[in-house]
Amino acid sequence: MSSAGQSGTESATAEHPKAYPPPEEFAASAVATADLYDEADADRLAFWAKQARTLQWDTEFTDTLDWSNAPFAKWFVGGKLNVAANCLDRHVDAGNGDRVAIHWVGEPGDTRDLTYSDLLGEVSKAANHLTELGLQPGDRVAIYMPMVPEAIIAILACARLGLPHSVVFAGFSAAALRSRVDDAQAKLVITTDGQFRRGKPAPLKAAVDEALGTGDDAAPSVEHVLVVKRTDHDPDLNWVDGRDLWWHETVGNASDQHSYTAFDAEHPLFLLYTSGTTGKPKGILHTSGGYLTQIAYTFKNVFDHRPETDVFWCGADIGWVTGHSYLVYGPLSNGATEIVYEGTPNSPNEHRHFEIIENYKVTTYYIAPTLIRTFMKWGREIPDAHDLSSLRLLGSVGEPINPEAWRWYRSVIGADRCPIVDTWWQTETGAMMISPLPGVTHAKPGSAMRPLPGISAKIVDDNAQPVAAGEQGYLVLDQPWPSMLRGVWGDDDRFRDTYWSRFAEQGWYFAGDGARYDEDGALWVLGRIDDVMNVSGHRISTSEVESALVGHSGVAEAAVIGAADETTGQGIVAFVILRSGVEDRGDAMIDELKAHVAKDISPIAKPREIIVVPELPKTRSGKIMRRLLKDVAEGRELGDTSTLVDPTVFENIRRRNS
Ligand code: WT7
Repeated sequence: MSSAGQSGTESATAEHPKAYPPPEEFAASAVATADLYDEADADRLAFWAKQARTLQWDTEFTDTLDWSNAPFAKWFVGGKLNVAANCLDRHVDAGNGDRVAIHWVGEPGDTRDLTYSDLLGEVSKAANHLTELGLQPGDRVAIYMPMVPEAIIAILACARLGLPHSVVFAGFSAAALRSRVDDAQAKLVITTDGQFRRGKPAPLKAAVDEALGTGDDAAPSVEHVLVVKRTDHDPDLNWVDGRDLWWHETVGNASDQHSYTAFDAEHPLFLLYTSGTTGKPKGILHTSGGYLTQIAYTFKNVFDHRPETDVFWCGADIGWVTGHSYLVYGPLSNGATEIVYEGTPNSPNEHRHFEIIENYKVTTYYIAPTLIRTFMKWGREIPDAHDLSSLRLLGSVGEPINPEAWRWYRSVIGADRCPIVDTWWQTETGAMMISPLPGVTHAKPGSAMRPLPGISAKIVDDNAQPVAAGEQGYLVLDQPWPSMLRGVWGDDDRFRDTYWSRFAEQGWYFAGDGARYDEDGALWVLGRIDDVMNVSGHRISTSEVESALVGHSGVAEAAVIGAADETTGQGIVAFVILRSGVEDRGDAMIDELKAHVAKDISPIAKPREIIVVPELPKTRSGKIMRRLLKDVAEGRELGDTSTLVDPTVFENIRRRNS
């Protein structure tokens, strides 16, 4: 369960009210009003059909939902559209070509503004070159890039051509990239020569070369690697003739005119790999019409979006679903002006985000609680040194937000006048599902409040019975929604097993989170109930880290848990048993194991703590008792140890730990 310590039961005081109504002025002119709930309740499918019609369709859909082959949904049946045209051409055609789409800020301080016309031109060039490479609708393209404009251009070029993209976070290892390229059988990989990391250029293409291999080991599906020159720092950059192409020499010389074709509403738009309870990440599949409908709708209503005057900023990386939905498709389908920032929040120093807000007059700011808690640690004098008065709405995403961080966010960043939207959703849901409406909801710090209009959720027990207020249960989605995942790439069984088997009889989607309603009917998401950890809003499975650890020659066995962490929500704590004959070299060994995990998966998966133990606590059936390890890691009294084969293992673990 999550650590963030939200209680929801604390009593209200004048200083700490239980709920925060929207400021009067905000409510008076809000984009979304309470009528939206009534409208959706009256006829859910008609409501979604109406939302879908705000998009540009080349062929009208004939049916809103076909659920006859559940859990494989078809939304907006028979409709045809082009997702990229909805994000670009539509706005240019409406006379908004000169509006800035992206204010890009590079980590070293270089900047670039792209209007909607510029972006359309760039995407057209990329689309023309990808066509020239022989890619056909349906072919997969892997994108392994830092936050440069070309990453968004590449994503939209794929969407324009009906090429499902698979963005792989540029912080992931070569091994992680390879397994994703192989699973999706990607024909093209788009990358950069390098990326800036805290002020220094670091290689990136080198990881692609390592991932794709050579000779017998070469990734069989990949025909080309398209390389954007970003850092230009490496005179010895490896180059595979015939396979590798420079972006500026190819896309750069292509025509900026491209006419699109429309694709079926259910045409695959992208795959995004995410951690589950097993070691193997799953390729979550999203399609076109339903995804874009719910993304466009939630962006507009939850962010109270005003295309003429707002400057939106989502702090997520394109490697995660938040980046896909609210850095690419949500803002651009709404014709928004947004910030795209390449670097980390503390390069060159902790003022970076606040400088950007001040310089670009950001109105809407959407980040993860872990970053809010980091800002808290840095101290309020940093945001206080800046004029943040342009802000009018704040958002939170990725993990439960603790009430203290919520209040700090509201008062220090939002000057007590900006509503906060705490948005619950998942890679699988594609778009926001549970969230306040900023002009309507009396938001409670730490609660995602209630399902958005058009969305239905329940909290139930093992027998699918609704739990009483205050009781914890499983969060389920009991009605299909337009941006729902359409499957797990290449693995229909896993799709059914993971999400639809727990409440198969009812046909409900099982989200994997625990939740409860409070006495006022507000919904509190409590965190994952499975073996998935949430570290800084990133999903990492315990077994993924365990298999990386046992992949080290010195490790015989490993058990990994997510322990409460003040800043990152959860921190990874690993208990390892060394192989016999392997000498425990103390800190050197621990450092080596940490580095091994960082290299094997990603630095984000690096354990906060590794504890070498002689034994692991196991049940008689051989299952590792993670719950007890969590007690140890969080320094609690041990829970029930009666089912352990050998209750004395804890004596040893504690002795080692202290
Ligand atoms: C898991 C999904 C949402 C996009 C980024 C993460 C947790 C997400 C909240 C929230 C409490 C949240 C859940 C969920 N989560 N948002 N507002 N309050 N928990 O996407 O990597 O697919 O992770 O993140 O545990 O299941 P993801």
